[in-house]
Amino acid sequence: MKIPLFKIYWDNEDIEAVSKVIKKGAYWTTGPIVNEFESKISEYIGSKYCVTFNSGTSALHSILLAYGVTVGDEVIVPSFTFIATANAPLFTGAKPIFADIEEKTLGLDPLDVKEKITKKTKAIIPVHYGGSPCRINELKEIAEDHNLILIEDAAESFGAMIDDRKIGTFGDSTMFSFCQNKIITTGDGGCITTNSKDVYEKLKLIRSHGRQETSNYFSSTEFMDYVTLGYNFRISDITAALGVSQINKIDKIIELRRKNANYLNDRLSSIDEIDLLNPPEEYFHVYQMYTIRVAGGARTRDELMRYLSEKGIGTKVYFYPVHLTHFYKTKFGYNRGEVPRTEEISDCVLSLPMFPTMVKEEMDYIAETLNNFFEKHPYE
Ligand SMILES: Cc1ncc(COP(=O)(O)O)c(C=O)c1O
Repeated sequence: MKIPLFKIYWDNEDIEAVSKVIKKGAYWTTGPIVNEFESKISEYIGSKYCVTFNSGTSALHSILLAYGVTVGDEVIVPSFTFIATANAPLFTGAKPIFADIEEKTLGLDPLDVKEKITKKTKAIIPVHYGGSPCRINELKEIAEDHNLILIEDAAESFGAMIDDRKIGTFGDSTMFSFCQNKIITTGDGGCITTNSKDVYEKLKLIRSHGRQETSNYFSSTEFMDYVTLGYNFRISDITAALGVSQINKIDKIIELRRKNANYLNDRLSSIDEIDLLNPPEEYFHVYQMYTIRVAGGARTRDELMRYLSEKGIGTKVYFYPVHLTHFYKTKFGYNRGEVPRTEEISDCVLSLPMFPTMVKEEMDYIAETLNNFFEKHPYE
């Protein structure tokens, strides 16, 4: 690809940070830098606590365990998401219930969420799609009215805000992902932010074998008891060092992404056949993805995707609906019609390249190629 869908933003500080831990020859598994990374995340997001994990998926799994979400419970999730959002309730024996999304942010539609609440509903997991906040204030109100746990899936939206308030401070707890295409990355990794000390302590047990750690397990002679069932969902100090060095650059990363998105918005706004996302003004979008909607639906969208690919421009459909994957169709008997707006929107979304180091020539080329395509495929 001449222009890939994403490029990781890294520099020599990342290399030095990781090398330093390697050269230390100790604390490769878990050590002081994990704590430092967690403190930096908490400080940046504005949460009391943060626990890191080896992926966003293990973080989601753990937070549902921490809240005791289990067999017989229902958890409301979007189908317009990465599959891990819906799988997480299944990991703990609960059932994911799909609610539809709304047009402006492509996040959960509060009205449909209300419709999907039953006596069995225990939690809601809204997704902040592609760097844009969803309608979290309304969802929070619904959760409070119905006594439900609100867990934000902000895998894609580290640094996003509503007014001056960071995503990650609205729900009871929030998950962020540090997978390679995210705003900051540690290769793989994730975290939970929360203000609850109880949840924080449970998460630490779940993350590391249910072990009650009083100091660093590997360098201590003390017996540490195992008090609950736990996993090995830890990140290493090597990974955390990369995380610290990445979060140190966060303001720059977001500024560059937003600058590029504005430039692309300007260049693409004259194309009638595509719609750009248009979140409310007070929503601070960090553009983990740059998603357009293509008039004409899946056929035109797929043709456009092939055309851009031939021209060396990477694109991807984020997301095909989760309920229409083989696993969900066969396990639960889902079909088209379950969440109609999700299906309709999913048929016309296409994510274009977006990364901090993208240059004007690349964005001009993307705009020109899209223009060329639509000259041949006008939407009547
Ligand atoms: C919305 C959403 N939820 C959950 C995940 C899972 O995160 P991870 O890949 O870190 O396990 C992702 C990441 O791909 C995501 O985009």
